[in-house]
Amino acid sequence: MCGIIARVGEDDALGEILAGLRTLEYRGYDSAGVAVRSDDGLGVCKREGETDALDAALVGRDLSGSVGIGHTRWSTHGPPSDANAHPHTDADERVAVVHNGIIRNYESLRRELREEGYRFTSETDTEVVPHLVARELDAGTDAETAFRSAVDQLEGSYALAMVVADEDAVYATRHGSPLVLGIGDDARYLASDVPAFVEFTDRVVYLEDDDVVILDDDGHRIATIDGGPVERETETVGWTAGDARKGVYSHFMRKEIDEQPTSLRQTIEGRIGDEAALDAFPPGALADVETVVFVACGTSYHAAMYGSVLLRRRGIFATAMRANEFAHDPTPLSDRTLVVAVTQSGETADTLASLRVANASPARTLAVTNVIGSSAAREADDAVFIRAGPEIGVAATKTFSSQVATLSLFANRLECDGAGIGTALGREEIGDRDTAVGLDASADRDTAANSDRSADSDAAEGTIAARRATDGGTVSDAMRALPDDVATVVADDGAARLAERYTDADSYFFIGRGVGYPVALEGALKFKEITYEHAEGFAAGELKHGPLALVTPSTVVVAVFTGRDDERTLHNVREAQSRGAPIVGVGPESATEVRDAVDQYLSFPDTDPELAGILANVHLQLLAYHAAEIRDRAIDKPRNLAKSVTVE
Ligand code: F6R
Repeated sequence: MCGIIARVGEDDALGEILAGLRTLEYRGYDSAGVAVRSDDGLGVCKREGETDALDAALVGRDLSGSVGIGHTRWSTHGPPSDANAHPHTDADERVAVVHNGIIRNYESLRRELREEGYRFTSETDTEVVPHLVARELDAGTDAETAFRSAVDQLEGSYALAMVVADEDAVYATRHGSPLVLGIGDDARYLASDVPAFVEFTDRVVYLEDDDVVILDDDGHRIATIDGGPVERETETVGWTAGDARKGVYSHFMRKEIDEQPTSLRQTIEGRIGDEAALDAFPPGALADVETVVFVACGTSYHAAMYGSVLLRRRGIFATAMRANEFAHDPTPLSDRTLVVAVTQSGETADTLASLRVANASPARTLAVTNVIGSSAAREADDAVFIRAGPEIGVAATKTFSSQVATLSLFANRLECDGAGIGTALGREEIGDRDTAVGLDASADRDTAANSDRSADSDAAEGTIAARRATDGGTVSDAMRALPDDVATVVADDGAARLAERYTDADSYFFIGRGVGYPVALEGALKFKEITYEHAEGFAAGELKHGPLALVTPSTVVVAVFTGRDDERTLHNVREAQSRGAPIVGVGPESATEVRDAVDQYLSFPDTDPELAGILANVHLQLLAYHAAEIRDRAIDKPRNLAKSVTVE
């Protein structure tokens, strides 16, 4: 959602700024621009389109100078165009500004400045900033005071970086939008995200809201908006430049799908078992939690839904809400409620808005995120990191798997701590549930049977601890095997064969139940997002309550099986099959009855049904990927989208 970069060093800045912009393109790619300061003043170049268009526009231009800023845009105010591209300047090009976020009071500021004779050339909210600074400069103030004074007048969310024509310096600040400082040997950097400069330095300072930072020949200075000194810790990031590059891959998405065995190993390392601590949560730390409310958006919301199913199965009341709804219509919260914000970037505005609502209530808050130093990590009472490594592809892949694995470990932690007020219903109480079909006497059959036995004994003894004692180990064993199981799915890549077969369908429906339901929603989201085909996800049992009316022989139905309640899902499949729909099943290797019933089958190694959804989802990621490849879509940069949506 717009990426900004700034750089001050000893040699020319442009090359490093352009390299940073290319890495930041996942945050927006409808226009890009740079401003470089030299003894001749500011050189500005900006173009509608991706950074390639900017590169072409720079041919023959001399933008030498050691100080500069750059921007890649995801438009909010004003359509993509050269004029609306950043940097924005005042009329005399004394000031150039790049911005990520939204300035809410821009209309009144614009009116005021216009009345005073300042001329606007774009439709953006950002353009008020260089004019506000210019007004201060006109009044005789220095650049730093002018910058502070302009920022003081802004309402909304922003990360801003500014260069001026007559100083080798960058002025920057943040308020509700991310900004990280990079400290190199010969240069300083500012960017929306670490990958933009990780090639040049791994030493970073995560800036806080309302920090003002000044980069100049002497290094950097951080201060409050009023000029008071601020101390911030310098950290070393554990990433390499290679993590943020495609390498031999043609798309980041494919690289990130393939990386999942490694990223999952990182996620679970040292965290499995009843006595293992989960970051901020040593054993017992969550004992007083009665209810859990997840808030999240998009793919992270699907991971949150998955987590809520796992908690409910452990007798803990849990619900997942879309953050954009919760922020304005929250559930009742008490000091026994834990609100869990699930967000890969830790910067999604809707999710942060929800977190702030929860922080203002008696509830305890937790961020489950991939980004150390992110707003969510800093603002929540506690943070658990999913350790997936940087994800650049706009479509989230490896972070979903790591989120779900983390939430599964978190569910075990809550259960071990004795959290919750309920008792998980045994299968007998819910009804006939012994419906994992076609599983032979393999580990998976044992797993299913174990779950049943444990649930029965829960019912008998009425304690969560009884359930943990009988099947906690089974989930842990499955978790240990998860990275290898994912590697098997990635190596199989059965979706590559299937994607060709169903290119003419009108619609793609994804169905599942239990943890298969959020996976069905996620499968549909990934498919529509990168193929631009119509795809919807449904709870399998919901099909007959309306969506079945849409099912024709041109509707491909992708059904997720997990080894639990599969027979019921198979009933739903037959409802679609009898309307002529071709069926793609995704399920455990040994589910022979499912395999026989469907037209095509993508299988994964037998595992605990709680984790089966992760394996099924990897097949669905690959299905979306291949379907998009066949259609020649912009897989890493789907139209109209951007990663990290920092506006509400
Ligand atoms: C879809 C996707 C988005 C994000 C959503 C939340 O592939 O990536 O739906 O999941 O924008 O982002 P985070 O997790 O950063 O809060």
